[in-house]
Amino acid sequence: MEEILITGGAGYIGSHTTYRAIESGMKVIVVDNLITGHKEALHPYVKFYEGDIKDSSLLNRIFSENKISHVIHFAASSLVGESNNNPLKYYSDNLYGTQILLECMAKNKIKNIVFSSSAAIYGEQLIMPIKEEAAQVPSSPYGETKLAVEKLLYWCEKAYGIKYVTLRYFNAAGALENGLIGEDHEPESHLIPLVLNVANDNKEYISVFGNDYDTHDGTCIRDYIHVQDLAEAHIKSIFYLNELTNKSDAFNLGTNKGYSVLEVINAVQKITGRSIPVKYLSRRDGDPAKLVASSEKAKQYLNWIPKNSGLERIIKDAWSWHFKNPKGY
Ligand code: UFG
Repeated sequence: MEEILITGGAGYIGSHTTYRAIESGMKVIVVDNLITGHKEALHPYVKFYEGDIKDSSLLNRIFSENKISHVIHFAASSLVGESNNNPLKYYSDNLYGTQILLECMAKNKIKNIVFSSSAAIYGEQLIMPIKEEAAQVPSSPYGETKLAVEKLLYWCEKAYGIKYVTLRYFNAAGALENGLIGEDHEPESHLIPLVLNVANDNKEYISVFGNDYDTHDGTCIRDYIHVQDLAEAHIKSIFYLNELTNKSDAFNLGTNKGYSVLEVINAVQKITGRSIPVKYLSRRDGDPAKLVASSEKAKQYLNWIPKNSGLERIIKDAWSWHFKNPKGY
């Protein structure tokens, strides 16, 4: 049985990936400092270590107490706005944290890692859908740290033989189909959970950040990808790494299709049957007008298809979670 270490396994995408890994027969060890993660999001079968990836003695202990073959690395800070105000926190949590993890992997001869990267590494792009070879010009410290880790991985493979897959997520959304786990950030800044908070009467209205973009209805377009499809891509990446002839590589994870902010709001009204008051505000700093992924490469090489990612399905599953857990975990 494959033994996998998942860093950040109590977080949003990390917990969904943990569920999927266990379902597919893997043994999962989780390390999470529970600063943004939730104990309740941990799968009951995981072996859990509470602590920080910057703690090398903890990581060395985890590697010596378990027979880990692969690491899936989620643990990070992930708020774009916060990263602009506090870049040092992002370089420390995301870059230095990963440096310590890689040092411990090299020391303990762990040779495989799947890294949680982001569309944020591309910044503003003119050509859609975005392919992996597009220019990488992050517009936030968050995106810069994700890109810096991608580069670090490249050099670590050469020096220590650590093979990697980096997965560049577009807009993660949705929840486990049965509503057992879901999205719970504090503070919440993502569109779909915020609109669902209005449907749930936790919020009076949704602020729309800009309706003067060069898009069909003036609001920003994003490529929403179901968190269960993201989880599946990590499992496929483990299989990919196990094939010795496969090379380390980076893959976009999205659907090739974008929806505007207003389309998301309308879909939420339709699915929840509740009316969503809207307030138009000015643009949010650093928001590109449109981000849509080309995921052809992931389809071809990882054999991955985003089969749960229709907008209705994403909102339906997110709503099951938010309806049952209006205050989160
Ligand atoms: N939006 C609103 N009102 C809100 C919240 C969001 O209008 O209250 C809009 C944003 O302006 C944006 C869209 O909804 O156009 C989506 O915003 P999110 O905050 O949900 O997601 P982002 O596209 O900003 O962020 C995502 C990921 C980040 C990643 C980034 C890359 O969540 O992790 O894409 O650009 F870094």
